[in-house]
Amino acid sequence: MGNLMKIAIDGPAGAGKSTVAKRVADLLSYVYIDTGAMYRSITLKALRNGVDVTQEDELQSLLQMTKIDLEKKSDCQIVLLDDEDVTEEIRSSIVTRNVSEVAKHVNVRKEMVKRQQEVSREHSVVMDGRDIGTHVIPDAQIKIFLIASVDERAKRRHEENLNKGMASDLEQIKKDIELRDLLDSEREASPLKKADDAIELDTTTMSIEEVVESILTIVREYERV
Ligand code: CDP
Ligand code: CDP
Repeated sequence: MGNLMKIAIDGPAGAGKSTVAKRVADLLSYVYIDTGAMYRSITLKALRNGVDVTQEDELQSLLQMTKIDLEKKSDCQIVLLDDEDVTEEIRSSIVTRNVSEVAKHVNVRKEMVKRQQEVSREHSVVMDGRDIGTHVIPDAQIKIFLIASVDERAKRRHEENLNKGMASDLEQIKKDIELRDLLDSEREASPLKKADDAIELDTTTMSIEEVVESILTIVREYERV
C-alpha cells in the first residue's frame, strides 16, 4: 500500500474543486471523493427528519446510523444516502444554506474524516473539500488550494443553474457564497484554510482544462523527482 497517491484539493465554494478533482481522478484512474457531498447528504437527512442542525448530539447520532456512498458511474458520480440517489437533491438551496451549520460540529467532522481516511488507506485518491490538506490527508503528496474571485465564483454557479434550466439570482448566489465562505473560514473545527505546503492556483481567468493541466503538470513533476 506504500505506493498509494493522495491528492488534496481545497478551496472556497465555486472555485472549481469538484469539476477539476473529478477530471484529474478520471485521467489518473484514482478514486474521487467529494467530501462536500458527504456533509450535504447528512444535512439533507437532518432536514428531512426535522433534526435541529444546531444540535451536535442529535446530528452525531443521526450520522452514526446513516450510510453515505459515492458511486462511480461511467461518466459521473452519484451520491447515495441510505441507498437512495440524492445526487441532485443535495445541491438544493435549502441544503446549501444549512450545510455549513452542520459541518461546524466537531463530532460530525470526526466521523466524516474517519470515513474519508478509510478510503484513502485503500486507494489512490483525489479528495476535494475544505480541510483535506490540513486535516483529512495531511500526508497527501500533492495539495492544491483553488481560489477565484467571488464575482467569478458566483457567475459560475449562476450559469450552472441556468444551464440546468433552474431559476437563478446572481446577487443572491453571491451573498450565499460570501456567507458560506465566512462560516467555513471562521469556524473553530478544521476551518477552510490553505495548508502551508499547498500550491495555490487562482482560477479566476482559467478554463477548466487549464486548471486540470496545471494540476497534472504538478503531479508529473512530483513523479519525476
Ligand atoms: O460545491 P460547494 O463548494 O458549493 O460546496 P461543497 O464542497 O459541496 O461543500 C458544502 C459545505 O460542506 C461547505 O460549505 C462546508 O461547510 C462543508 N464542507 C466542509 O466543512 N468540509 C469539507 N471537507 C467539505 C465540505
Ligand atoms: O466544487 P466547487 O464548488 O469548488 O466548484 P465546481 O462545482 O467544481 O465549479 C462550479 C462551476 O464553475 C461549474 O459549473 C464548473 O463547470 C465551473 N468552472 C468554470 O467555469 N471554470 C473553472 N476554471 C472551474 C469551474
